[in-house]
Amino acid sequence: TDEELDLRILAAKATLGDRAVILGHFYQRDEVVQYADFIGDSYQLARAATEKTRAEAIIFCGVHFMAETADMLSRPEQAVILPNLAAGCSMADMADIDSVTDCWEDLAELFGTEPDDDGRVPVIPVTYMNSSAALKGFCGRNGGIVCTSSNAAAVLEWAFQRGQRVLFFPDQHLGRNTAKAMGVSVEQMPLWNPRKPLGGNEEATLQDSRVILWHGFCSVHKRFSVDQIDKARADFPGVRVIVHPECPMEVVDAADESGSTDYIRKAIEAAAPGTTFAVGTEINMVNRLASEHPEHTIFCLDPVICPCSTMYRIHPGYLAWVLEALVAGTVLNRITVAESVASPSRVALERMLAVQP
Ligand code: 13P
Ligand code: SF4
Repeated sequence: TDEELDLRILAAKATLGDRAVILGHFYQRDEVVQYADFIGDSYQLARAATEKTRAEAIIFCGVHFMAETADMLSRPEQAVILPNLAAGCSMADMADIDSVTDCWEDLAELFGTEPDDDGRVPVIPVTYMNSSAALKGFCGRNGGIVCTSSNAAAVLEWAFQRGQRVLFFPDQHLGRNTAKAMGVSVEQMPLWNPRKPLGGNEEATLQDSRVILWHGFCSVHKRFSVDQIDKARADFPGVRVIVHPECPMEVVDAADESGSTDYIRKAIEAAAPGTTFAVGTEINMVNRLASEHPEHTIFCLDPVICPCSTMYRIHPGYLAWVLEALVAGTVLNRITVAESVASPSRVALERMLAVQP
């Protein structure tokens, strides 16, 4: 039963004490979040793994790419544990190292690799945190950087100072929305098509580009629509519409504001009591904000329940299982990134951490 699981998790946590720390992403369900020692967005969780803990085990209640990042940023003797190894991210899976390398080689053929008179190289690769360690390593090796949704503009600024254009992967929406807000025109952000040879990708458009976008997207955030925003405004005059930048451009443009999960949380915390919010992000987070803020009216833009199905794979039963194994001296579901990948990945991650102190 739930009560039995609760007792087992609390008992294991109490036995382990400071030896284990539980990190939880905002999208985790309440039944898991209640046990987290630290809750945050993907940027804050990456920092937490670096700075906030000396624990020998970091139990990461989130998805695979976050656990990989925590492993690369934590100390070597710390074990990062993903309670359910099937908790991946469909967006991260949309960019693989071979396809990105093929694209990179095509771009090198087109633009060359020599810097211009201002010292800017033809292309800087930027990967969203929601990507495999292999792609972070690719960025580290090729003068690039990692971003999250909370620092994407600052990271793109960093990249534009060093490059004539950016290759942004995997999330086309975060790339497009962020660059558009910085004044880059949509025409200068072509979508790379890995199935077409270089000529098919319209070389003239690529020559004029500022941001070349990968074709990835988040299956949760792509569900939000302008129709839903119109309906929320019709039903609740004065509603504040706030969405995550993984939503499509029309949705971000139609919303009142957009930002990372932590941005959304802070905006709601800072609002005058009695504000109505229609929120375009994952349902577990929206429901939690609604119950934490009874002074506001908060609802999800999408009337159909839309959890992130992979985040949802972290169930308290898995948490109990890995914690009890730790008590018994066994590390289960450890996520380790080979040093040959982790070392260049850290270069790209540390560039990001230096951009946003
Ligand atoms: P943030 O926590 O950076 O807002 O990212 C949202 C997300 O999709 C995580 O998978
Ligand atoms: Fe991936 Fe979207 Fe789930 Fe985030 S919400 S983990 S981007 S599928």
